[in-house]
Amino acid sequence: MNQLEALAYRFRRFAELECRDSSPLYERLSTCIADDPQLLELATHCAEGQPPPNLFLGAAHLVLLENPSHPLSAYYASLAESPEDREGAYSHFRSLCLEHSERIVETVSTRLVQTNEVGRCAVLLPAFAIVTARSATRELAFVEVGASAGLNLLWDRFHYEYGDDARWGDPASPVQLFCEPRGEPMPGIAAPPPDVVLRVGIDLDPVDVGDTEAVSWLRALIWPEHRQRVAALEGALRLADAETPTLIAADALDALPGVLDSVPPDTALCVFHTHTLNQFPPAGRRRFGEILDEFGARRDLYVVSIERHGAQQERVGALLELTAYEGGRKTSLALGRCDNHGMWLDWFGGAA
Ligand SMILES: C[S@@+](CC[C@H](N)C(=O)[O-])C[C@H]1O[C@@H](n2cnc3c(N)ncnc32)[C@H](O)[C@@H]1O
Repeated sequence: MNQLEALAYRFRRFAELECRDSSPLYERLSTCIADDPQLLELATHCAEGQPPPNLFLGAAHLVLLENPSHPLSAYYASLAESPEDREGAYSHFRSLCLEHSERIVETVSTRLVQTNEVGRCAVLLPAFAIVTARSATRELAFVEVGASAGLNLLWDRFHYEYGDDARWGDPASPVQLFCEPRGEPMPGIAAPPPDVVLRVGIDLDPVDVGDTEAVSWLRALIWPEHRQRVAALEGALRLADAETPTLIAADALDALPGVLDSVPPDTALCVFHTHTLNQFPPAGRRRFGEILDEFGARRDLYVVSIERHGAQQERVGALLELTAYEGGRKTSLALGRCDNHGMWLDWFGGAA
């Protein structure tokens, strides 16, 4: 398989496995790109190690957001109130990419596919509620590994709805999250939020919410039909303007031990990570577990994670897990399975 054939395969697979049921427009565009050598040639400039379809479609979306009067805008739900049928989109998409090929190449060769998915907090919240209930103090410290822009460290400032019955948080929050509850009934989430006394994020390449280009790229990576994700991102960015969590630019394997040691001893400590460990090499994942085990042997610690497991990960979502180190004893519990963007949570039951 030559380079263009390999790229065509990636776009076709992306259309089938990731876009179907989630973005009809991207499904259509990706299928057409796979048969278009000129656009595949542009996609050869994608940075190594990055998924070309996400990067390329994100770069085109960025150009479109910068040029909203282009006829392609009529097909994007991010720009048109009632988008045109996707069947007519490709010729305009092609023109946009060829007219702005330099901007596309510059973007795909320098940017990473790095989002900050605020909706995942709707999956984290019930796990954080368990952590709060099990902690000896109501003062909590949160450390996020792979924090991106650090927006999910502001989780207690958001408002949450789980179907018709369960709500939590400030109803006036600029971030309104909706998550469909599935499976067993979730445990109750106590009304008063805990006092979050520390919010620290570690990321290899943190996104600076004060950098307008970086923020535009975060928006461009959200698929056009996903208006709820854009609204959540915009709201969280507004909150971050007022209270930016501390972000440390480092490999978590280097920085985490020092960060954990610096957390005040009289707080309950929770480390969380979402869709991050898949970016660690296997030896890094093992080392990460060892760091937590070593620390958890010395001090109580809760680790909440949403990570994808298994070969069919695109189809079955991710797993929500809680590992508790209490009095030197480690227990791990799979709490549920969830949508990659936090749109639904299938609660397994059995959590204390
Ligand atoms: C897919 S993003 C998820 C971001 C965020 N957790 C979310 O759910 O929106 C993964 C993040 O992990 C970061 N990352 C990958 N390897 C890392 C490492 N070794 N140390 C720290 N951060 C890392 C990346 O830079 C990226 O921001």
